[in-house]
Amino acid sequence: MGRVLSGIRPTGRLHLGHYFGALRNWVEFQNECECYYMSADWHALTTDYADTSKLDENTLEMVADWITVGIDPEKSVLFKQSKVLQHSELFLVLSMITPLSWLQRCPTYKEQINEIKNKDLNNYGFLGYPILMSADILLYKADIVPVGKDQLSHLELTREIARRFNNFYGNILVEPQEKLTKAARVPGLDGRKMSKSYGNSILLGESDDILKDKVKNMFTDPLKIKKDDSGHPHGCVVFAFHEIFNKECKKREKECEVGAIGCVACKKQLMEMLSEFMKPLTEKRKDLIADKAYLENVIDTGSQKAVEIAQETMREVRRALKF
Ligand code: TRP
Ligand code: SF4
Repeated sequence: MGRVLSGIRPTGRLHLGHYFGALRNWVEFQNECECYYMSADWHALTTDYADTSKLDENTLEMVADWITVGIDPEKSVLFKQSKVLQHSELFLVLSMITPLSWLQRCPTYKEQINEIKNKDLNNYGFLGYPILMSADILLYKADIVPVGKDQLSHLELTREIARRFNNFYGNILVEPQEKLTKAARVPGLDGRKMSKSYGNSILLGESDDILKDKVKNMFTDPLKIKKDDSGHPHGCVVFAFHEIFNKECKKREKECEVGAIGCVACKKQLMEMLSEFMKPLTEKRKDLIADKAYLENVIDTGSQKAVEIAQETMREVRRALKF
């Protein structure tokens, strides 16, 4: 039985992209592994240091989302990074041994520095983001880290940092392996990647009214105007969702191509499937959100369990450093 660790920054409510991209895997790991799932609130500070007012509320909402989709606090340890001070201690130690060049060449760093223009990212913590992530993983001696493709360079770096530590001080840290999610690609309403910052997402627990509006606004094949026009399902957002939710999506593909169905009917059917998928989630989520005390208790209990493991590792680390 391996140990799994993963985390998400608490930046707001989760959407279908999170579910099909990551959370579905998280749920499955629970039966095979010892799982640690973390709200990475210190990580959120690396870019959003100027406004911390929503962090705690976002963590609560996110944990509610996790439980909604089937992550079970009785099976997995759900915790908040900032409640486990050992993350910051290991981060400090690893910062000492990580060459700056390893951080500067990180593709995520270069990309975000170039792309994110509305925030000042010339802070030391932002450059150090991957070291904090390494600390998160190495602290729990996690074997497996389920992440999206965009995080692969961070996993590689984590292994390099672990090797360097072990070379200097003795064999203590464990090199983790990534587990890529066989992600069904979930597009946003406009066909770009589903992302909160694009405003094109479908949230977990969305109400029927909002779902209806969102499906109505989904991009379709612009060349298919009349219902018997032949269409191009590949590239149509509605069809991408049929591929996820409709067992008979092959049939739909043909129907679209030969002009046997119109977009209005096609959307209506998707709406029904989405609504059926979402309904139990929406109800469960509503109950969870109404019980803040329960959510807080889950986080406190999980964070205490996390501290126990983190303390063990840090004891070994300190001994290895001769402190
Ligand atoms: N960097 C991850 C992301 O942006 C979040 C994260 C923080 C994480 N610490 C982690 C993921 C540890 C896996 C393991 O998605
Ligand atoms: Fe897309 Fe369906 Fe319209 Fe074809 S019929 S273009 S799959 S919405």
